[in-house]
Amino acid sequence: MNKYILAIESSCDDSCVCVMDLEYNIKYEKNISQIDLHNEYGGVVPELASRSHLQYLQIILKDLAKTIDIKDIVAVSPTFAPGLIGGLLTAVGISKGICQMHGKKFIPIHHLQGHLESINIGKNDHTPYPNLTLLVSGGHCQFIYAKTFGEYEIIGKTIDDSVGEAFDKCGKTIGLRYPAGPEIEKHAINGENIDEIGRPMTEKTMNFSFSGFKTNVLNFVNKNREKLNDPIFFKNICHTIQSRLSENLGYKTRLAIDFVNKKYGKFDNFILCGGVSANQTIIKNMQNICQDYDIKLNHPPLKYSMDNAAMIAVAGVKNFKLGNYSNLDIAPQNRFNIQDLVSFYQTSINQKSTK
Ligand code: KG4
Ligand code: ZN
Repeated sequence: MNKYILAIESSCDDSCVCVMDLEYNIKYEKNISQIDLHNEYGGVVPELASRSHLQYLQIILKDLAKTIDIKDIVAVSPTFAPGLIGGLLTAVGISKGICQMHGKKFIPIHHLQGHLESINIGKNDHTPYPNLTLLVSGGHCQFIYAKTFGEYEIIGKTIDDSVGEAFDKCGKTIGLRYPAGPEIEKHAINGENIDEIGRPMTEKTMNFSFSGFKTNVLNFVNKNREKLNDPIFFKNICHTIQSRLSENLGYKTRLAIDFVNKKYGKFDNFILCGGVSANQTIIKNMQNICQDYDIKLNHPPLKYSMDNAAMIAVAGVKNFKLGNYSNLDIAPQNRFNIQDLVSFYQTSINQKSTK
């Protein structure tokens, strides 16, 4: 008999399922993106997302049953927090049903712990601890120092928008569809900076703020709306958005590395993950910074920078190996600070029971 973990991710707008063995190899994987559904509304519509997750996850699980034997599943790991509550309820509800019916272990996973593990998908030798992560997605923008698996400290975060939101909102201002990050990256090639647009918050703190920059872009575009059809002008705006955001992430990253070095001593691995980590300009910038500090840069392959269930499965396997099982009364939570996982493990998990 095989030993597989079944992971389900539906915390935002992707319905994803993955089955992984205990050596972190993917045995089954399917994602159904809802981007086209939400596109016309300019962002994710929570009600539409929950209804679609319910429909799409059922389709995927029906397909999975053709190739994966339920007997080989030893535990089920849904994303339980943070995220849109309707999506979380769907994954958690389905998982609890499977665990109850088939006597499987229940291992709820924190979505950001999944993103941190996205660099380890398919690998047996994992990035060692301690390490520092810059997690940049549509919902999050934070520095997380990991002492070990499950023990995290947030050392800086956004006080308003995430950097993914900054890409998306600036993109909307210039007429791009959601999610605008990849489009801005395409249009930015060979562009030049427009000095008048300015920069995101450059205060010497490890926290981020992007809402002022978003307003700068909006004001600039409102003043120059008639030029938006000029391809060179458009390219320069995209270039400015991307380079200013990348520059800001780089500046804050140097502050964060200095802070960690001083507080905890030198560390060897830096992780860049989340949807925005697909951006090549940002990756190059981080490569240069890591080189300066003699630290290794780790980032997931493009496919796993976005939301996916394989990253949730890696976290599921690691928790399974630690015996971090939960009973079935865990409720999904739309907000959940990753730092609180330690007390969550102590109080809710480690009961080594599924019933
Ligand atoms: O991690 P993710 O798939 O979903 C969340 O958990 O939020 O991240 C989605 C975000 C969107 O804001 C999208 O615009 C951004 O990642 N993104 C990018 C790129 N690809 C995706 N931003 C900049 N450049 C990219 N190439
Ligand atoms: Zn995410």
